[in-house]
Amino acid sequence: MEIKIRDHSPERIKTDLLVVPAHEKKLDAPPIRALDRRLRGALRVRMEKSRFTGAEGSALLHDTAGLLPAAQLLLVGVGGAEEIGGDTWRRVGARARKEARALGAADVAVIFAAGAKAESAAGALVEGSLLAGYQFNKYRSNAKPSAELKTLTVFSPGLRPSAALKRSIDIAETGVAGVFLARDLVNEPPSIATARFLGEQAEQHCRGRGLSAEVWDKRKIQAMKMAGLLAVNRGSHEEPRFIKLHYKPAGKPKKRVVLVGKGITFDSGGLSLKPSKSMETMKLDMAGGAAVIASMSCLPKLGLDVEVTGYVPTTDNLPGHNAQKPGDIIRYRNGKTIEVLNTDAEGRLILADALALGVEQKPDYMINLATLTGACMVALGTQVGGLFSNNQSLADALLRCAAEAGEKLWQLPLVKEYKEMIKSSVADMKNIGGAHGGAITAALILQEFVGQVPWAHLDIAGPAFAESDNALGPKGGTGYGVRTLLKFLSAL
Ligand code: BES
Ligand code: MN
Ligand code: ZN
Repeated sequence: MEIKIRDHSPERIKTDLLVVPAHEKKLDAPPIRALDRRLRGALRVRMEKSRFTGAEGSALLHDTAGLLPAAQLLLVGVGGAEEIGGDTWRRVGARARKEARALGAADVAVIFAAGAKAESAAGALVEGSLLAGYQFNKYRSNAKPSAELKTLTVFSPGLRPSAALKRSIDIAETGVAGVFLARDLVNEPPSIATARFLGEQAEQHCRGRGLSAEVWDKRKIQAMKMAGLLAVNRGSHEEPRFIKLHYKPAGKPKKRVVLVGKGITFDSGGLSLKPSKSMETMKLDMAGGAAVIASMSCLPKLGLDVEVTGYVPTTDNLPGHNAQKPGDIIRYRNGKTIEVLNTDAEGRLILADALALGVEQKPDYMINLATLTGACMVALGTQVGGLFSNNQSLADALLRCAAEAGEKLWQLPLVKEYKEMIKSSVADMKNIGGAHGGAITAALILQEFVGQVPWAHLDIAGPAFAESDNALGPKGGTGYGVRTLLKFLSAL
């Protein structure tokens, strides 16, 4: 899709679909008035008849019947806020894309009227229209190649294609490619998307200026004493992999960051087997790893001055004949031990290896993403990620970046009193807590492996996978986390 920036006026622009953001308190804004005049008052009549108010989420489609160079006109409500935020622009872009698909429009033009934060707003608008175009059709025999959008024109009278505006749009396009990679990796069926496959994908997508991938096989994993990954892998027929990605900028890096992603390619629960209903979506359990691989794949293009190491421990969690058993104890490379009382609490077991390895590099920040607990979904629902951190300024930065990126994230506490709940009678800790606060006890176990490094854990069990189609994409992997990570790394 080609993106154009133009300074036309709306009555002049020739397009299949003209998208006009409509503000609740400015329904008679100059562009709407000008268009209505050309339409001989028909737009005003339609707005009144259908009680279109400009409320966020509302929209009105109008056929211009040859009275304008634009074939169709779509009013999109943006609500009544003083300043139209990035998330609203993202939804306008998404709505435009959805309508274009329904109409078979190849060309869409959106009136863009942002004030102070024009660059980021334009980026969000483009991002929304791209995200909404995602499809995963490789396993459909009847997928009709839908009329795809060819050009998106962002315009307003006097709009200049400044370097900053273009850069913001470029960044949006790069980030969306990352999001799509993460979605593809999650959506791939679990018997295809094995640990080996994930390693190959990482090698394929993570190379380029300053970026390289290394994939450790079982022997290397043994040599590196990744005891958690080996323990979880015991029940599987597939070999595990440990993916190590590294990005080094050309100049001296401003900061050094370690990213860790949970890469359970399928979570059956192991011997602590899940019921079948809970297993249906468990190919999603490598979404954290996918977000790390996908984010890092964007770094050469973005050319950031931060050094980033990405770790993705990956295996499936199956109850094969040699599977680890409740009661087993894992001894980690840093000497710590965990008693495994529930083999379905496997994410923390493999993340611990990677976090322990990450600490050894003494990075400025360490951030892990994991579809870690159903308890986090109980707390925050399916759309909001849970954030835990031992460093409040890191947490604040991530919350700010997530808000800008349009990914919902909410901080939860590391309640140190709850450490009681993970005490083991035979080892340093056990891998499950009590009946309550499961997202917190899981985070507390991870915290045991990060030492003093400023660290954040994103529990993305809810938002990693959409249960149904939504504005920014279809049911399935969402690529949650990629946009937040890229914003965070860009702002360092
Ligand atoms: N992968 C799951 C968490 C999960 C659940 C992600 C639902 C997405 C949707 C994780 O490995 C798991 O099974 N967690 C257990 C932990 C429990 C055994 C302490 C859970 O949440 O039930
Ligand atoms: Mn599990
Ligand atoms: Zn899991």
